[in-house]
Amino acid sequence: MQSKLYTVTFSPTGSSKLVARAITQGLGSEKGEDFNITLPTERKQHDLLPKKDDMVIFAMPTYAGRLPELACEWLRELKVAPGTPAICVVLYGNREFDDSLIELRDLVSTRGYKPIAGAAFIGEHSFSTQKFPVAVGRPHKDDLDLGIKFGRDIAAHFDIDNWISNAGELKVPGAFPYKDKKPPKTDFIAVSDACNSCGTCVTVCPVDAVDADNGFIPIVDKCILCCACIKACPENARSIKPGPVLDISKRLNENCSIPKRPTFYWPE
Ligand SMILES: Cc1cc2nc3c(=O)[nH]c(=O)nc-3n(C[C@H](O)[C@H](O)[C@H](O)COP(=O)(O)O)c2cc1C
Repeated sequence: MQSKLYTVTFSPTGSSKLVARAITQGLGSEKGEDFNITLPTERKQHDLLPKKDDMVIFAMPTYAGRLPELACEWLRELKVAPGTPAICVVLYGNREFDDSLIELRDLVSTRGYKPIAGAAFIGEHSFSTQKFPVAVGRPHKDDLDLGIKFGRDIAAHFDIDNWISNAGELKVPGAFPYKDKKPPKTDFIAVSDACNSCGTCVTVCPVDAVDADNGFIPIVDKCILCCACIKACPENARSIKPGPVLDISKRLNENCSIPKRPTFYWPE
């Protein structure tokens, strides 16, 4: 492939980023810019404007069967692309991805992209805990190998004359109208005495919700429940406290223990 490859990732706990990297490796095209839109400062950049022959990978998690609203807000502001091929990828924590992939496909289409391949990969569930593990360690090596193969398959299609222009609509699971978005608002993080105020939690929060002046507790109105601060804490001082989120962890652990496999989608 001669074109440039750009990536757009929203990835508070890193799994979407890992999968985007594997697909990039398989595609083997010239590197364009990475737009990691996870942090507030990074979401200020809006200069992605690929050419028609370039390609963009969009990779982000499923939150309650939809895309995280923050990522959607950024996507809605994308400059209109000239029919640039898009690879739409969602991660999910081994429950379901419901309407997140169709939402991603539809959103990038409205911004002038042409979705030409889609995939849903499994990532360790953000609510996974030691007591209630859910999809621990995903994406694992086999998942990432499938990501590399997916990239190679796309590159092979891309090299076929007129494949992109002849490709029909990318068919993915999900339906419109999408599931309702339920903005989560709950005080669910406990900070133990092991916290040494290093401030890592502040630096990884996608919404500036960790209050350094108040024991590094998240500000409930801002917190999106992504658990980036819990997973990044070098002292393991942060945890999900008993309550509605831990109840979800328990239910997921009981009901979603059979490992799912990544799935792939192509145009009609
Ligand atoms: C608020 C919230 C809601 C989630 N909803 C779902 C869901 O509906 N289905 C599912 O399988 N996983 C769900 N997950 C798990 C994430 O999709 C999964 O952990 C993903 O790998 C996280 O991506 P990241 O590591 O790139 O941040 C949810 C996670 C969070 C934080």
